[in-house]
Amino acid sequence: MVEATIRHYTLHSEHECDRLELQARIAGIEDHIQYLRIPGGANILDAGCGSGSMARLIASRHPDATVTGFDLNGGYLDYARRIAANEGLANITFREGDIQALSFADASFDLIWSKHVLFFVPRIEDALREFRRTIRPGGSVVIALEHWPGIVLDPQDPELRKTLLQVLEGLADISITTRLVTMVMQAGFVDLSVRMDTSRPYTIIGSIDSDRRSSHATEMDAARPYVAQVLGSEAARDEFYDAWFGYLDRADTCTVLPIWFFQGTAPISGK
Ligand SMILES: C[S@@+](CC[C@H](N)C(=O)[O-])C[C@H]1O[C@@H](n2cnc3c(N)ncnc32)[C@H](O)[C@@H]1O
Repeated sequence: MVEATIRHYTLHSEHECDRLELQARIAGIEDHIQYLRIPGGANILDAGCGSGSMARLIASRHPDATVTGFDLNGGYLDYARRIAANEGLANITFREGDIQALSFADASFDLIWSKHVLFFVPRIEDALREFRRTIRPGGSVVIALEHWPGIVLDPQDPELRKTLLQVLEGLADISITTRLVTMVMQAGFVDLSVRMDTSRPYTIIGSIDSDRRSSHATEMDAARPYVAQVLGSEAARDEFYDAWFGYLDRADTCTVLPIWFFQGTAPISGK
């Protein structure tokens, strides 16, 4: 693991795994399964699995599959292992590492799933090259990412929206969705598709409910030092937090955030 090449996970806190589990419930991740092509007896990698919610869901829905959850953070994997053991899942293991240099042989997987991870990876091309290398011919990759540059605030508040995107761009590479199709193509995948859905955690009509607020407040709390850096001072950060959460708390506002599912296939010819 080369520390210098790893973008800091700016949302990390001691509560992050509980938050990821809550976020997975709000997101309704069982609906993500429709975007996956899972052959019988498949070998599947959840690249950047965090608390392991999707890896566990796939393992429980497909008992004949072998699922590996993979993440940079060993603490998150301990959490994921504990829940998987409590759920009695025998077909799932977890491994620590960096998706920019996967510790798996060529053509190991029928499917690689990766949600909300490439935002935090400094060398996305390397991760895509590793996905391509470790997916068997005919296997597929599905990358799920919220499309933050497309967030709608209704009623419009252009200043708040601009600051929100500036802050998020400072925390993660949120504009990756606008460059990813050609990057996936250049990595050697074929039959590309992009499908779109609404991201439920951030599609909020009327006052934000307590679960969504708690999840978002936990991540924004974790990010406080970085947001102060992005906005130039703690005062500017606090002013932004008040304005943003104030907007979300209002009964007469709505936010809509798309989530995109990028899919590609490793060519059979191996070209
Ligand atoms: C926002 S969380 C998403 C977790 C999970 N995919 C989900 O949807 O709940 C991002 C995860 O990516 C992991 N991560 C970030 N950079 C990584 C890298 N270079 N290699 C492996 N995992 C990484 C973080 O540790 C974190 O668990």
